[in-house]
Amino acid sequence: MDPMNEMTPVTEAATDPKPAKAVPALPDAQTVTEVKHWTDRLFSFKVARPASLRFRSGEFVMIGLMNDPDPKTGKVKPLLRAYSIASPSWDEEMEFYSIKVQDGPLTSRLQHIKVGDEIILRPKPVGTLVHDALIPGKRIWFFATGTGFAPFASLLREPETYEKFDEVIITHTCREAGELTYGRELIESLKTDELLNEVIGEGFWKKIKYYPTTTREESAKMGRITDLMRSGEAFADLGVPPLNPESDRAMICGNLAFNLELKDLFENTYGLEEGANSKPAHFVVEKAFLD
Ligand SMILES: Cc1cc2nc3c(=O)[nH]c(=O)nc-3n(C[C@H](O)[C@H](O)[C@H](O)COP(=O)(O)OP(=O)(O)OC[C@H]3O[C@@H](n4cnc5c(N)ncnc54)[C@H](O)[C@@H]3O)c2cc1C
Ligand SMILES: NC(=O)c1ccc[n+]([C@@H]2O[C@H](COP(=O)([O-])OP(=O)(O)OC[C@H]3O[C@@H](n4cnc5c(N)ncnc54)[C@H](OP(=O)(O)O)[C@@H]3O)[C@@H](O)[C@H]2O)c1
Repeated sequence: MDPMNEMTPVTEAATDPKPAKAVPALPDAQTVTEVKHWTDRLFSFKVARPASLRFRSGEFVMIGLMNDPDPKTGKVKPLLRAYSIASPSWDEEMEFYSIKVQDGPLTSRLQHIKVGDEIILRPKPVGTLVHDALIPGKRIWFFATGTGFAPFASLLREPETYEKFDEVIITHTCREAGELTYGRELIESLKTDELLNEVIGEGFWKKIKYYPTTTREESAKMGRITDLMRSGEAFADLGVPPLNPESDRAMICGNLAFNLELKDLFENTYGLEEGANSKPAHFVVEKAFLD
């Protein structure tokens, strides 16, 4: 049994003569420092960053809460889920952007966290949406649906993104307009981010082209990004040619059908090759959630 995955709740006996020992209430506990609710289905939060945790912008970690005690054994186990780190690798805090699934084992509870609460954060970052998995190019595309925006919230604040690419295009497709707000405000905030403008260079954010679309509620641009690319409308709107292996690199993070459709377009229409940490190439893919 992995002692980090199963714990007996610690109870303090009133008659214990020994001085109280500092026993953490949770394994890998981190304190919540900020919570923001964006819609009835979306929220973001920040936690303190473990001092020793290093990660690459775009990676994900396992986070969660303790389950209720097992009625038979009294043991409590952590309930963990994969989460993209939405903050960049240099930040002192760690940010996450989350769905609220009303009957979801984790998020039915996680959506109620408050500043000062503790969550579990396993300090083992992994993932494919990293600069190391791409070969150099001129333009980088980030393609997201829903909470798939999270790894790009990290990469959009990562200096390496702007050091390596002349143009940064972020597309975000959601059902409703309100689901775009977190991403829109984050991108807007880059213009006045003094630290990033100083570190990366004044006006670095002018490299970004933001292309938000909705599919089930009226907004400035309606439609799935995949359809808008096939028709050529997205490229005309953005003023760039269709993707090609010489200049374009891409990262994809969305639902499974979206990921598969884009992968097919990239490989069979644009001639791009999928990369990995061990074999960098033109594009990389990661699921935003398991279907
Ligand atoms: C690599 C990876 C990274 C992930 N990063 C994030 C992230 O940054 N933010 C985040 O909110 N979730 C993320 N997820 C999904 C996350 O792991 C959980 O599934 C989610 O928190 C819901 O947990 P749950 O226990 O409440 O419900 P689950 O039992 O895990 O899911 C219940 C159902 O809800 C739906 N669902 C789950 N997650 C989402 C989602 N994000 N968007 C839309 N529908 C969803 C699916 O239909 C799923 O079958 C990621 C998943 C993977 C594999
Ligand atoms: N978002 C909501 O308001 C809402 C409300 C209640 C429950 N839910 C449930 O929550 C789950 C996830 O919903 P979600 O909205 O977060 O994520 P989602 O269903 O993955 O949809 C996110 C966006 O991706 C688009 N999309 C889906 N497949 C695509 C593809 N193959 N190519 C291009 N774009 C694609 C969707 O367009 P389309 O609209 O055209 O599919 C939508 O705009 C679903 O099971 C849903 O039933 C969602």
